[in-house]
Parts: sequence; structure tokens; C-alpha cells
Amino acid sequence: MESEKKISAVQMTDRDLSEQIKQVTKDCHERAENTELMLSFQRGKVTLPQFKVLLCSLYEVYQALEEEMDRNSNHPGVAPIYFPAELARLKTLAKDLEFFYGQNWREKIVVPAATKRYCHRIRQLGRENPEFLIAHAYTRYLGDLSGGQVLGRIAQKSLGLKSSDGLSFFAFPGVSSPNLFKQLYRSRMNSVALTEEERNGVLEEAVRAFELNIQVFDDLQKMVNISENAQQNYSTKSTAVNTLQIS
Ligand code: HEM
Repeated sequence: MESEKKISAVQMTDRDLSEQIKQVTKDCHERAENTELMLSFQRGKVTLPQFKVLLCSLYEVYQALEEEMDRNSNHPGVAPIYFPAELARLKTLAKDLEFFYGQNWREKIVVPAATKRYCHRIRQLGRENPEFLIAHAYTRYLGDLSGGQVLGRIAQKSLGLKSSDGLSFFAFPGVSSPNLFKQLYRSRMNSVALTEEERNGVLEEAVRAFELNIQVFDDLQKMVNISENAQQNYSTKSTAVNTLQIS
């Protein structure tokens, strides 16, 4: 926490990775915000099926991300931005999944293709280019500490949850001020020594990370739509059958 305070005086410049990464991902951030799934959140209309499938996919994504970060925690491209005590999400997601699916949640979770592709990419980087993990960690963790904070509060209302049960994913007890922590994180990102080529690679990877998130959201939404349509068809048919039987 002391380190969070110290960093607030540091000036950032537009040569800094943290500024460049924000710039290059501006458009895809907007597209991510405007996916049907994220719009449901922002409009206070997120449904339980949407929320549950999102948690399932996030569990898989954070499992890949945190395993690869742990394995590469001494790598010079990872060590400065390695904050497991403050940021790790896997256990919070497991807790939320248990709340919604019950004790045998592991047998019930569904992982669509786009989520598998996202995890595959993270694991490939962990093996081949750990310095690019910074782009994925930035995209997820800084997002969770930014818009994610508002989304958690909205989800609580939309889903009618009385307590914070099922919403551990959104809570960061190890981060006293998300804004100060984000400043510390940015300065750590900027301290990573990267060649010009590596830096460009990280920027490209950040755009890819957003794209992968967008694909996950679209895939999940499609899955929810299909299941809703199937249920509607089923109830229309059973009404027709009932009507037939009654008449
Ligand atoms: C930052 C909103 C979705 C990743 C932010 C900020 C807001 C925000 C208000 C702070 C901007 C600033 O401090 O200048 C939202 C809303 C979303 C959403 C309302 C959807 C409902 C996402 C998604 C991702 C994401 C899906 C990635 C998967 C980020 C990142 C930052 C950020 C990485 C940090 C930017 C930086 O300071 O460098 N978001 N966001 N956001 N968001 Fe989102």
C-alpha cells in the first residue's frame, strides 16, 4: 500500500508502454464495451444464464493466465507485474461457481470454443514468449480494476443478490485503492525492458487479447440465445400440445 502512494507522483510519458497500450486498444475497448453481453451488464439487464456462463469462461481464462504467470514469475517480462496476492482471481471464481452451480460445479461448467482458443493462446505464450503475457495480464486485470468494479455492483442489483455471495470475482481485498494500484501497475509495466520489436509485439498482443475477449463474449451470447430459443420453442410446442389436448 505504501508503494501505491509513492507511485502517484511519477509522471507518465507517451513513450511509456502503459500509454501506448491504452492508445492501441482504445478502439477494441469500445467494441468490447458494445458487445451484446457487456451491453446487458451496462443496462442492468444481465441475466443469471449470461452471468453463469461468463463466470465459467473466466474461470478457464484465469486458470490459464495465472498458471502461466506463476510458472514464469521470475521471467524479467513478468516479474515486475506479478502481483498474485493483490490480483489473483482463480479462487474467487471457484467460490462464485460453487455458489451458483453447487459443490460439483466442476462437472457442470461449459467452455465454448472461443474460450478454448483464448486459453490456448495464453498457454502458448507462457511456453514460447512469456514477455507477451504482460498484454494479457493488462487486458484482464486492469479491466477488472476499472469498468469491472462498476459491473460488479450492477450485476448484484440485476441478479437480485442480497449479499456479495457469488460476486467474489469483483472484489479485490488486497487492493485498497484501485486507482493508485493501477498507477503502480502502469509504472511496473513501464519498467520492463523491451526491445522495439518486443514492444511492438506486446502492443499487437494487447489488441489480440481484446479481440479474444470479444470473441468469447459473442460466443457466450450465442450460446445463451440458442438455449433461450430452444426453451421458448419447447414451451410454445407444449402449449400447442396442451391446447390440442384441451380442445
Ligand atoms: C479501463 C469501462 C469492458 C479492459 C476502463 C475504464 C472504464 C472502463 C470507465 C477507465 C478508463 C480510464 O481510467 O481512463 C468499461 C465498461 C466495460 C468495459 C463500462 C463494459 C461493460 C472492458 C473489457 C475489457 C476492458 C471487456 C477487457 C477484456 C480495460 C482495461 C482498462 C479499462 C485494460 C485500463 C485502461 C488503461 O488505463 O490503460 N474500462 N470497460 N474493459 N478497461 Fe474497460
